[in-house]
Amino acid sequence: MSHYLPIFGKRHYVPLLLVLAVYLGSLLFASYKGGPVGAVADTTYAGSLACRACHRAIYDSFVTTAHNRASSLASAETIAGHLDAGRNTFKFNQLSSVLLGADSGVFFQAAYLGGAEYKRAPIDIVVGSGRKGQTYLYWRDNVLLQDPISYYTPADCWCNSPGYPKNGPYFDRVTNARCLECHASYATALDGSTNDIAYFQKSSVLYGINCERCHGPSEAHVLFHTAHPDEKASRLILTKNDMTRQQKLDVCGLCHSGIRVSVKPPFSFVAGGRLSDYSAVKYDPDSAALLDVHGNQYGLLTSSKCFMNSQMTCSSCHNVHQTEIAQPRIYSARCMACHNPSSHNECTVREVPGLVLSNNCIDCHMPLLPSKAIYLQLENSRLSTPDFVRTHRVAIYPKVSSEFLRKLAKASR
Ligand code: HEC
Ligand code: HEC
Ligand code: HEC
Ligand code: HEC
Ligand code: HEC
Ligand code: HEC
Ligand code: HEC
Repeated sequence: MSHYLPIFGKRHYVPLLLVLAVYLGSLLFASYKGGPVGAVADTTYAGSLACRACHRAIYDSFVTTAHNRASSLASAETIAGHLDAGRNTFKFNQLSSVLLGADSGVFFQAAYLGGAEYKRAPIDIVVGSGRKGQTYLYWRDNVLLQDPISYYTPADCWCNSPGYPKNGPYFDRVTNARCLECHASYATALDGSTNDIAYFQKSSVLYGINCERCHGPSEAHVLFHTAHPDEKASRLILTKNDMTRQQKLDVCGLCHSGIRVSVKPPFSFVAGGRLSDYSAVKYDPDSAALLDVHGNQYGLLTSSKCFMNSQMTCSSCHNVHQTEIAQPRIYSARCMACHNPSSHNECTVREVPGLVLSNNCIDCHMPLLPSKAIYLQLENSRLSTPDFVRTHRVAIYPKVSSEFLRKLAKASR
């Protein structure tokens, strides 16, 4: 890996998060340094399916989550946008459009100018669970490129891929390895990969984010417990007691701290390791106000008083084995684990009729804010709409709060 060249500063066309191109050396699972803590020295992966035998409930609920569906092979089930006639085109303007469809089982995007097709690319890979949207990738030899049209869930429609030229379809954006690092579980990069282009071994790609991305390689654990079914205490696996607060945060920070400057190739960080040995944040941690609300939950959270004055980790509010999004009460209950009458640390907002604090902590203290990085172009439009993201800077937002109370008063009238 000595020939690994960190290059940065250049903006690449990557949706949602502007990501840095990184050079991929030869990647071997066993070649990481830092490694898991404690007595766990496992470097072999068992695959999520192996966990099901003993962790059935977790497995069954986890497979339905956004993480597990963060990327997949293209299929009628995984493509969230409409492929039926009438809803399967995106019009840039009167002349230029893209048709989306399937032909003999191959999904495609085809560019039209004045009614005539002039270019076509397959949809091979779906990136995004569709919770907010999806972007599609296709193979050209061993390189992954991004299709021109993406899907935007809030408007249930096709949109121009974020950051793309506005007048017509663009087919030539090469994606770099970090894209798969955050949206998949593994991919082998082939010799000849450079700073800008990663050549992948197609058959090596493991889609979705699986158990061992967060728990580390677990084959030894599986083998041990399979051989010792009566052992009730966990063995040969990272436990939460083994990990420091920072190690726990790093597992999530790998993908949830925005753009990072890499010093080692993608997929070399393993749960239990120290993320700062692999990459560094690209923002100034002291100027959190400038952080974009998208994709950098880590940076925003660590700038909050809640975080600084407690031992909070992401797990203080999230159970990632389940989908809990859009259930404000679950989250409010987690706030109240620390903010309750006995902690003398309760909300001081003035009570008004109709306000049930315990239902809505997050609407006032973690509001949805527009992303500064992600703008989407909808059909027949030269205007862009921002994507709204839940800020992780837990704080007092007086304007948001009075707006919330105003709406509440209106609704209860
Ligand atoms: C043959 C049974 C078996 C299989 C297969 C198995 N585990 Fe476990 N695992 C256990 C037992 C027993 C425990 C301890 C009791 C518990 O926490 O459920 C455990 C505990 C754990 C813990 C909690 C560690 C702690 O103490 O904090 C994690 C994490 C874990 N397993 C992950 C996995 C993953 C990931 C897989 C699949 C790659 C897997 N397990 C497969 C039996 C198994
Ligand atoms: C390998 C990269 C990766 C790691 C590691 C990771 N995430 Fe994510 N996470 C993602 C991606 C990508 C998405 C968006 C998935 C989608 O909707 O397509 C996501 C979505 C989420 C969501 C929103 C979706 C939902 O179901 O609620 C939450 C919350 C979340 N992650 C929390 C965490 C926490 C907490 C950790 C650490 C324990 C973590 N993530 C670790 C990449 C990662
Ligand atoms: C996005 C990261 C992530 C993924 C993916 C993930 N887990 Fe976990 N898991 C965690 C975290 C974080 C904890 C510790 C929660 C805590 O501190 O209480 C945990 C805890 C556990 C535990 C301990 C018992 C418990 O409920 O806390 C088991 C067992 C476990 N996970 C198994 C699995 C299995 C099996 C899969 C795949 C089907 C999986 N996990 C996928 C992050 C993840
Ligand atoms: C540094 C990690 C990282 C990189 C690199 C990255 N993403 Fe993401 N992406 C995320 C996270 C985390 C989320 C969800 C969290 C959020 O919305 O803030 C996400 C969300 C998305 C979504 C929306 C999914 C949904 O339904 O919510 C799409 C689509 C997407 N990314 C596509 C891509 C593509 C395509 C690339 C590469 C060309 C890429 N991303 C690169 C981390 C990353
Ligand atoms: C792990 C414990 C913990 C959890 C969970 C937690 N907080 Fe806090 N929070 C704190 C601590 C400690 C402080 C600092 C109190 C102080 O400075 O007196 C704080 C401060 C705050 C403040 C004051 C911030 C400021 O800038 O003045 C607000 C508002 C707040 N929390 C809201 C929330 C909300 C909303 C949630 C849930 C989404 C939450 N907290 C979850 C521990 C926590
Ligand atoms: C104080 C509580 C709290 C903590 C700690 C916390 N989150 Fe969240 N997170 C939330 C709430 C509340 C939401 C919004 C849920 C909703 O919209 O229904 C959320 C949403 C998310 C989403 C989805 C974002 C979106 O706009 O769709 C991601 C991704 C996420 N969290 C990741 C993380 C990561 C990674 C960490 C640790 C660095 C973390 N969270 C720590 C409370 C928290
Ligand atoms: C209607 C909006 C709203 C809701 C809902 C709300 N808060 Fe607040 N909260 C505020 C405002 C505004 C302040 C600042 C009040 C002031 O000026 O004293 C505040 C202050 C706080 C503080 C700081 C207290 C201090 O001592 O400085 C904490 C902690 C807090 N809220 C937590 C919570 C928690 C936990 C919940 C959910 C149970 C919640 N809030 C629900 C608007 C809200």
